[in-house]
Amino acid sequence: MPGRRLANPQGLLLVCAVMKSLVTGGAGFIGSHLVDALLRRGDEVTIFDDLSSGSRENLASALASGATLVEGDICDADRIQAAVNDFNPGTIFHLAAQGEVRRSIDEPAFDASVNVVGAVNVIDAGQKAGLDRFVFASTGGAIYGEGDRLDLPAAESSLLEPLCPYGLSKMVGEKYLELYRRMYMFNSVALRFGNVYGPRQNPKGEAGVVAIFCELLKQGGRPVVFGDGTQTRDYVYVDDVVEAIVAASRTDVEGAINVGTGVEISLLQLLEALAKHSPEGKGFEPEFDEKRPGEVMRIAIDPSRAGLELGWSPSTSLEAGLKETLDAL
Ligand SMILES: NC(=O)c1ccc[n+]([C@@H]2O[C@H](COP(=O)([O-])OP(=O)(O)OC[C@H]3O[C@@H](n4cnc5c(N)ncnc54)[C@H](O)[C@@H]3O)[C@@H](O)[C@H]2O)c1
Repeated sequence: MPGRRLANPQGLLLVCAVMKSLVTGGAGFIGSHLVDALLRRGDEVTIFDDLSSGSRENLASALASGATLVEGDICDADRIQAAVNDFNPGTIFHLAAQGEVRRSIDEPAFDASVNVVGAVNVIDAGQKAGLDRFVFASTGGAIYGEGDRLDLPAAESSLLEPLCPYGLSKMVGEKYLELYRRMYMFNSVALRFGNVYGPRQNPKGEAGVVAIFCELLKQGGRPVVFGDGTQTRDYVYVDDVVEAIVAASRTDVEGAINVGTGVEISLLQLLEALAKHSPEGKGFEPEFDEKRPGEVMRIAIDPSRAGLELGWSPSTSLEAGLKETLDAL
């Protein structure tokens, strides 16, 4: 483990463990919260990000607290290898990704270039640098495919049948980690997040329905629901997700771990919960449009393994999480 050597008044050498963590995608929604948490525990942190969907604004307090931002694209193998070699981290948290289901359907080769080739570049750079631990941001929302055919909430052992290129590209990232474990004893974990929501989520993207709805609610706009609104998701608050990521980095647990609540919440239920916060109790009535391709009808993921192996369970209720999200706008 990387350490810092200090002499105490008696002249004896003390070794303080300063963890060095590299966060790809650290300027994004989840990544920037993770960076803040790592800095709070005293880590030395480098962020590798091309700022395509993330921003310096998300990193304002992190950069002021001493984190370093390296601007670069994970598709550039030499650049990520150089950043890893220069910083020599103990842990890489790999969150940089193309994260939109719709874009993955419209541009599957682009999705694969970032989420497969980019991920392989980061994994390989870590392996060559002799990394201690690799934490991969995978998806619980898109990797299992249609939840209607499963016993929900889905366990990690469920058959993986993604319905969009994004789900497949994350699954391939997980498969590379399995391969690197067999080939090099590479120490990694893949965290399959539910639908993460909270402050700093970009309402302009297509991925964060909570961010989009919260922004509309504040502006007095009307939400659009694609389909009949009965589709369910597993909404998990960002602080809970960051706790799971940090906990997973401290263990040697291998393989896939779901990070969700295990509870199915429909879009209509989400709207009902948000309507309670509508300005002057005006309500929050949706308009309906056609269901989108690649969207699953039902999903929720079982967090039991995270409880057993990481001692983690979500602690933020949907009510409390929505309030935090709205208050931050
Ligand atoms: N938000 C969710 O609900 C959710 C659910 C499941 C999995 N995930 C995964 O968690 C991770 C973080 O998601 P997020 O919601 O914070 O998304 P985000 O878009 O806010 O963050 C992604 C970050 O990666 C950076 N990035 C994108 N392409 C890059 C590239 N080629 N090179 C370098 N940096 C690049 C972006 O600039 C951004 O800062 C992603 O891997 C995503 O697939 C998110």
